[in-house]
Amino acid sequence: MSGNKRIGILTSGGDCAGLNAAIRAVVHRAILTYGWQVIGIREGTMGLLARPVQYDRLDLGMVSGTMMRLGGTVLGTTNKGNPFAFPMSDGTVKDRSDEIIGGYRELGLDALIGIGGDGSFAILRKLAAKGGMNLVGIPKTIDNDVNMTELSIGFDTAVEVATEALDRLQPTAASHHRVMVLEVMGRDAGHIALQAGIAGGADVILIPEIPYSIDSVAQKIRQVRQTGRNFALVVVSEAVRTSEGEAMQKAFADGQKRFGGIGNYIGEQIARSTGAETRVTVLGHVQRGSMPSPRDRLIASAFGVHAVDLIAEGKFDRMVAWQNRQVIDVPLEQAIETYNEVGLDDALVKTARGLGISLGD
Ligand code: F6P
Repeated sequence: MSGNKRIGILTSGGDCAGLNAAIRAVVHRAILTYGWQVIGIREGTMGLLARPVQYDRLDLGMVSGTMMRLGGTVLGTTNKGNPFAFPMSDGTVKDRSDEIIGGYRELGLDALIGIGGDGSFAILRKLAAKGGMNLVGIPKTIDNDVNMTELSIGFDTAVEVATEALDRLQPTAASHHRVMVLEVMGRDAGHIALQAGIAGGADVILIPEIPYSIDSVAQKIRQVRQTGRNFALVVVSEAVRTSEGEAMQKAFADGQKRFGGIGNYIGEQIARSTGAETRVTVLGHVQRGSMPSPRDRLIASAFGVHAVDLIAEGKFDRMVAWQNRQVIDVPLEQAIETYNEVGLDDALVKTARGLGISLGD
């Protein structure tokens, strides 16, 4: 694909650090190498649904300077409103996919780059198949659970934030002889907990992939005390279940269920079983904000350039991916057929065990 083309770009799903670096890279590559126009669609697919369609023409001036350093997404995003079953104000749901496809056509786009996670990709793929849209995906999610890529944009920064939280919790834990429990995000995968836990010197790391027992956790805390250390650090991933197997989720006003509460649950259980004074920190959305780490800026830049090159080669329905220190591309279909969880034989699981960290089992 060459000539004066118009490509669209949107960010979809939960925001994270590094999205702006990816947008910048797309604009640089598309304009400087190919001389194309880049249309930034506002609020994910909501911008294509709106009439008039909500977008900004992105030029080099708009993406210079501070943009790569900024957290969030300058385009805005949405993690609500599946267009195939869109919740209407009267309580009904409606298929509004044709309106989104209409928005793509109205903008005269030759291709669309969607920066999202597996949920967004599933929807965008369906829209692309129905409307003949030329789609390329760039993976992002702090959870790092997108299949076929070792890294997604936003994960590294989230690990950095969670590690810093442990660095800050350690001295206060030691000063008060406390067990500090840190609850981190991760939806269904324990990557943030595992990596931040190792990097931040945790004694216990609980992830949804490895069932735990409170007895085993309590035994580790007692062991730590026997060595003469008066404090302990525990990292818990939000999707860890209670001892009874219950997922700690709350229903929100929008009807969606979100995780929350396992940190307090584990804190209470530890206090009961060991008599230790515990305090709980729920890190929450702090993990999504802030300046992107250098590594997130790097993969975002590499992904953005490669995504534009895929369009130039006429390769669609593909996702850019990071594998073995290289940017490659894979069929989007494979990226969404399953998700990337922590494997029981993962090298970092072995590292954690080798360090004497309890994984609760
Ligand atoms: O998928 C990213 C993520 O931050 C998860 O780690 C978390 O469970 C969820 O999104 C929170 O979603 P929301 O922004 O809707 O609260």
